[in-house]
Amino acid sequence: MEVKTSLLDNMIGVGDMVLLEPLSEDSFLENLKKRFDHSEIYTYIGSVVISMNPYRSLPIYTPDKVEEYRNRNFYELSPHIYALADEAYRSLRDQDKDQCILITGESGAGKTEASKLVMSYVAAVCGKGQEVNKVKEQLLQSNPVLEAFGNAKTVRNDNSSRFGKYMDIEFDFKGDPLGGVISNYLLEKSRVVKQPRGERNFHVFYQLLSGASDDTLKKLRLHRDVSKYNYLSLDSAVVSGLDDAANFRTVRNAMQIVGFMEDEVQSVLQLVAAVLKLGNIEFKPESRCNGTDESRIKDKNDLKEMCELLGIEQSVLERAFSYRTVEAKLEKVSTTLNVAQAYYARDALAKNLYSRLFTWLVTRINESIKAQTKTRHKVMGVLDIYGFEIFEDNSFEQFIINYCNEKLQQIFIELTLREEQEEYVREGIEWTNIEYFNNAVICDLIENNKNGILAMLDEECLRPGTVTDETFLDKLNTVCAEHQHFESRLSKNSKFLTDHSLPHNCFRIQHYAGKVLYRVEGFMDKNNDLLYRDLSQAMYKANHSLIKQLFPEGNPAKVNLKRPPTAGFQFRASVSTLMKNLQTKNPNYIRCIKPNDKKAPHIFTESLIRHQVRYLGLMENVRVRRAGYAFRQTYEPCLERYKMLCKRTWPHWRGRAREGVEVLMADLQVPAEEFSYGRSKIFIRNPRTLFFLEERRRQCLQDLATLIQKIYRGWKCRSHFLLLKKSQIVVAAWYRRYAQQKKYQRIKSATTVVQSYARGWQARKLLRELKYQKRCEEAATTIAAYWHGTQVRREYRKFFRAHAGKKIYDFTIQRIMQKYFLGLRNNLPSMSPIDKNWPARTYLFLDGAHAELRRIFHLWRCKKYRSQFTEERKAVYEEKLEASEIFKDKKALYPSSVSQPFKGDYLEISKNPKYQKLNNAVDEKVLLADVVNKINRANGKGTARIFLPTKKSVVLADQKTGQVKASVPLPDLTSVSVSTQSDGFFALKLKEGSASAVKGDFLLSSEHLIEIITKLHRIGATATDREQLSIDISDEFLVQFKQDKVCVKFVQGAPKNGNSVSCKRKNNRLLEVSVPATA
Ligand SMILES: Nc1ncnc2c1ncn2[C@@H]1O[C@H](COP(=O)(O)OP(=O)(O)OP(=O)(O)O)[C@@H](O)[C@H]1O
Ligand SMILES: [Mg+2]
Repeated sequence: MEVKTSLLDNMIGVGDMVLLEPLSEDSFLENLKKRFDHSEIYTYIGSVVISMNPYRSLPIYTPDKVEEYRNRNFYELSPHIYALADEAYRSLRDQDKDQCILITGESGAGKTEASKLVMSYVAAVCGKGQEVNKVKEQLLQSNPVLEAFGNAKTVRNDNSSRFGKYMDIEFDFKGDPLGGVISNYLLEKSRVVKQPRGERNFHVFYQLLSGASDDTLKKLRLHRDVSKYNYLSLDSAVVSGLDDAANFRTVRNAMQIVGFMEDEVQSVLQLVAAVLKLGNIEFKPESRCNGTDESRIKDKNDLKEMCELLGIEQSVLERAFSYRTVEAKLEKVSTTLNVAQAYYARDALAKNLYSRLFTWLVTRINESIKAQTKTRHKVMGVLDIYGFEIFEDNSFEQFIINYCNEKLQQIFIELTLREEQEEYVREGIEWTNIEYFNNAVICDLIENNKNGILAMLDEECLRPGTVTDETFLDKLNTVCAEHQHFESRLSKNSKFLTDHSLPHNCFRIQHYAGKVLYRVEGFMDKNNDLLYRDLSQAMYKANHSLIKQLFPEGNPAKVNLKRPPTAGFQFRASVSTLMKNLQTKNPNYIRCIKPNDKKAPHIFTESLIRHQVRYLGLMENVRVRRAGYAFRQTYEPCLERYKMLCKRTWPHWRGRAREGVEVLMADLQVPAEEFSYGRSKIFIRNPRTLFFLEERRRQCLQDLATLIQKIYRGWKCRSHFLLLKKSQIVVAAWYRRYAQQKKYQRIKSATTVVQSYARGWQARKLLRELKYQKRCEEAATTIAAYWHGTQVRREYRKFFRAHAGKKIYDFTIQRIMQKYFLGLRNNLPSMSPIDKNWPARTYLFLDGAHAELRRIFHLWRCKKYRSQFTEERKAVYEEKLEASEIFKDKKALYPSSVSQPFKGDYLEISKNPKYQKLNNAVDEKVLLADVVNKINRANGKGTARIFLPTKKSVVLADQKTGQVKASVPLPDLTSVSVSTQSDGFFALKLKEGSASAVKGDFLLSSEHLIEIITKLHRIGATATDREQLSIDISDEFLVQFKQDKVCVKFVQGAPKNGNSVSCKRKNNRLLEVSVPATA
């Protein structure tokens, strides 16, 4: 991107008209054209920006451009609207001056676009942050909403503003936007009901119909077809380059951002729809019998739908369209409306509805964007009003619009042309006044309180009697006839009597921008702006909060019989407030010029532009700016800019700035007539002088740049060298430190080694000495001990021989015995009586005592062992002992029985209910109860029998039944015979001749043979009445079977018999029992 260093560099044409040489209208236009052809649409006249409408989008509004112009001086870069916006913003932020940006020009010249560019630039360069961004966004988004409702296509401009807008943007001390206030000026509401040929109604109607969804249209009871609505002109419904549908979405989105609630948006759309519906209501005449004319609504469908939309009772509105009630003091008179009046009422309602909706929108937007804080703020006002316009048919609205432009031109003249000239006087410069056209006289013609046109209009409106537009024109003709800017056919001024371009029902005003012919028709009505009370009351009754709000005068409780102020009066008042407001602020001008009437790019219609340049007073502007002095600047910045041109002022001037500039000018030998010294500024007469200064400055800057470069390079090299030097010192210091550290460590470790050797040598020497000393001491002690011993022995020898021997002996014996007993105690064997261990004998002479101690210990442990026996266990052991006495080493069965306890009652006869009877039959205590095999005497086979010995008898009973089979009293039992082998056979031998012996002896076998025999033997031992039961142990004995004596012989069984004992009767005399060999 090329960055220009001055307004005077690389410029196409001349960027500032003040520097134009030579200056003439033609050269002015030529310069404009040259720049326009090169897409340079902005040109300065001093600080005023001339803006040519390019009618095409140019790439000069990019974010890069914003950055380029940000914080740069006004003349630093090529002319741009951003430079003006930046200047205004910075002077607001830094110098605390309220600003206003006045954008003027005729319709289609680009005012609205310019105002948006200014706003977007300010938004881009001011502070950022969530809150600030929201404010910015709301301020910017208010534009599409207001444009949709307030702009329309006219023959001059496809997006013509049909209302005036002044927006105050408020900033805090940092320059961050806080909010804003919008003021609107008189909307051209007649457009709602009628549009001139080739023009459109307000954009919003077309946007709604083409952009809303089918659903929304259905809800609003609308058709998409524009031709269905009387209020929408057909011939230019579609504007090329204007996408109504897309714009509708933009507007909806903008409304949302600004803060409209969804129901508010809906209400607004309902009102827009209602206006369209209203236009479709048509009336037909109806004559009444009393001769009066009445009107009737032709088709009530639209009325019905409109009433439904707005929640109005149909009959109420229908009546309001048919009657008019006039209230005067206490009287109320109702008159019927004829068709024309009904149409008038309808249109009045539509216009009011729409214009009030527009005012409500502005109020609602203001509510959203107003500053939240109450802190003092700075203000930047942006004024964008409808431009001066001349139509074929100009009415009240154009009159008002042009009046407003007239006022703005006036303020421009006041502040630039007059102010400029006054500045010369103020600065004490010699000055001859320059003539310019001052339009104050036209403003006076319109707004003069006594005989101004607006005052006449108001007067006519308020006058009782018949008042019409014609009577108003008559009045003008009499009052203003003499005025040089007022022209009328009927005025006394005979000059226009034959002017056929001036119809009878018109008057013409010579505005600053040209002559405009106004048709008086409708002036009175529009100024009165009356809405029949019946209609406002009908609206107030609507069940629709927004409508109710818009027609407060319809509230019957607040009937106000006073006439509301007229439209003209209101407008004049608001314009006057605006002018006062603008005068308090620092003005910045943007003068928009329209290059052609075709709305086309690249076309430069010279005549049209020449006309605008003339009426805008641009030439005068340049002339005044240059007449004496083309350029002025306060001394300080001037000295600052050119001080390098003189050695005395460069680089610093210590004195006052003015003196510095004087020295500078003298040094440069600028001719005295080329400049003047004012009180605070220097004024340069000729642009050539300025160019000369600039050229010298440019050359000087080059020299200075070389100088700066030289010094900079020198400085850079020196800095680099110094840095290297500094670094070298640091590196050297670190290296030296490192080397010294290493050296020190080496010395230190060598010292430690030497030191340790020396210390070791010293220590060893000391050790040797100490050891020698110790040996000497020990030797001395030994010698002393021996010597003492010798001494003592010599002295005590006589006592030692007589007693010491016995004592030593006793002591030794005592010590030996003590050692023996302690050893014995520690090595005692276990407490088991059968443990055969005993410590070995240690001393021979203690042999007897050792054996005795062994015996005593054994007896003691046996006693200990016995003492833990109960009576029962004792009896058991006694039995066991007895069994041992009887069988030990006699019967092979015995060893296996030793470990078996003698249980006695194996059958638990007393407890077992099966043997209850048997138990009862035995009187005595049962000593043993067991099942034995009774050997059949005949075949040697066994039969199970219960064997029950008591103290008195031995009972044999049946095992199953318990029935007693035999009972042998003990005295009848003489002996018992058993084998030596491991079998359980035993024979009970009975006394011969006793009762029991009838059947002979019993041969039995039992698993508990040892126990049975022992028990029987014990009974015999304790009995006193009979002999001891003898027990025979032999492998052959005789048994008495009845009369026969049978020999029972026990033989070792062959292995084939297995392990079982078998018994066989061999013959009458022999019964052989075969016992297994291993048993
Ligand atoms: N700087 C610009 N760059 C591109 N196009 C522009 C520029 N300024 C204006 N235009 C074009 O000119 C048209 C008319 O401009 P604008 O609406 O700003 O005129 P205006 O002076 O506000 O007119 P009115 O008085 O009727 O409201 C715009 O719609 C746009 O197409
Ligand atoms: Mg505009």
